[in-house]
Amino acid sequence: MSRSLITVVVAARPNFMKAVPVWRALDQSFDVELVHTGQHYDRSLSGAFFDDLKMPEPAVNLGVGSGTHAEQTAAVLVAFEKYIFDRHPRVVLVVGDVNSTLAATLAASKLNVPVGHVEAGLRSRDWTMPEEINRVLTDRISCWLFTPSPDADANLAAEGIPTERVHLVGNVMIDTLLDLLPEARSRFREVSKTLEISHGRYAVLTLHRPATVDSPEVLDRALRGAGRVAAEIPVLFPVHPRTTKRMAEMGAVLPEGVAAIDPLGYLDFLSLMDKAALVMTDSGGMQEESSILGVPCLTLRSTTERPITVELGTNQIIDVEPESIEAAARDALSRQWKPACIPLWDGKAAQRIAAVLESELSND
Ligand code: UD1
Repeated sequence: MSRSLITVVVAARPNFMKAVPVWRALDQSFDVELVHTGQHYDRSLSGAFFDDLKMPEPAVNLGVGSGTHAEQTAAVLVAFEKYIFDRHPRVVLVVGDVNSTLAATLAASKLNVPVGHVEAGLRSRDWTMPEEINRVLTDRISCWLFTPSPDADANLAAEGIPTERVHLVGNVMIDTLLDLLPEARSRFREVSKTLEISHGRYAVLTLHRPATVDSPEVLDRALRGAGRVAAEIPVLFPVHPRTTKRMAEMGAVLPEGVAAIDPLGYLDFLSLMDKAALVMTDSGGMQEESSILGVPCLTLRSTTERPITVELGTNQIIDVEPESIEAAARDALSRQWKPACIPLWDGKAAQRIAAVLESELSND
């Protein structure tokens, strides 16, 4: 008997490290195909991650590229529907909250192909974020909701999603982190030489969300905040292409002590974060990763969809104001931090997902 085909969809930088452990765990029992929508296409945001994560080449790249939200979502919708007509997957798995996540879910659901959403149930309750819209709509029409933490289960219950669709499995991003941390650590010597930094004596800054970087005022306040931190400790700033564009448009000049560098691959970035004294970011995933590494994280946003990292981890939500950033950084740098222990963030989340699907599809 032929094995069921499961299609795993990836699209953008934060998807790859979530998809790889799932792909590996499923590969034992199913035919698994990786589809890249092409939302991210720069080597620094995509190809480099395939190498670091030892991921197979995608079976198909839909090549959708950039565009407005409608253009990008619509391009994935059309192209992924064609893929489904062609390949007839038994199940589609999507990860995270990017435009491609929602578009692939919509295309599959309308053709009655059941969808599993990995990292389901996270909510910032900020409807101005495109990711929040993607999360809520993806969860509403997915068949299996694989959640990372109990707060996600509570969000889904409050939205009336039947509990039998929800599976608390833990955090797949942490599966990858725990798997690759030894390799990342072995790179620190080289990373530190190239970037001229030393263990525990630098901070890392990343900014890419539209809410931060598409507003010249907010971006300016975030950079001035980083400048104040840089008076204490050098700040390394790997810059996302979207942010590079915005900074050029507004003629931003980086404050002294804040060094812009190109985006890094997964292993080099993990190595950099692991030995940092402090992380400042508007990213979602870094709130989780820094918590597990025991590095204090200042989230430069007014909300988080990952409250467990504030409750049990090293994360704090900080206003994007230079004074608030400086005060929080001083405080964080004066304290001792240790790696967080978050239930089910243990390196086995993808195995739990595979077990659910094996049981659900056992009658095929
Ligand atoms: C997307 C996701 C966001 C995720 C982020 C990680 C959505 C709505 N947003 O945001 O949730 O945290 O990826 O990076 O899906 N660009 C390049 N090269 C690329 C890709 C993008 O230069 O390979 C530039 C393009 O100018 C593009 C802009 O970045 O217009 C934004 O890219 P896009 O994929 O639309 O969103 P991100 O800001 O990367």
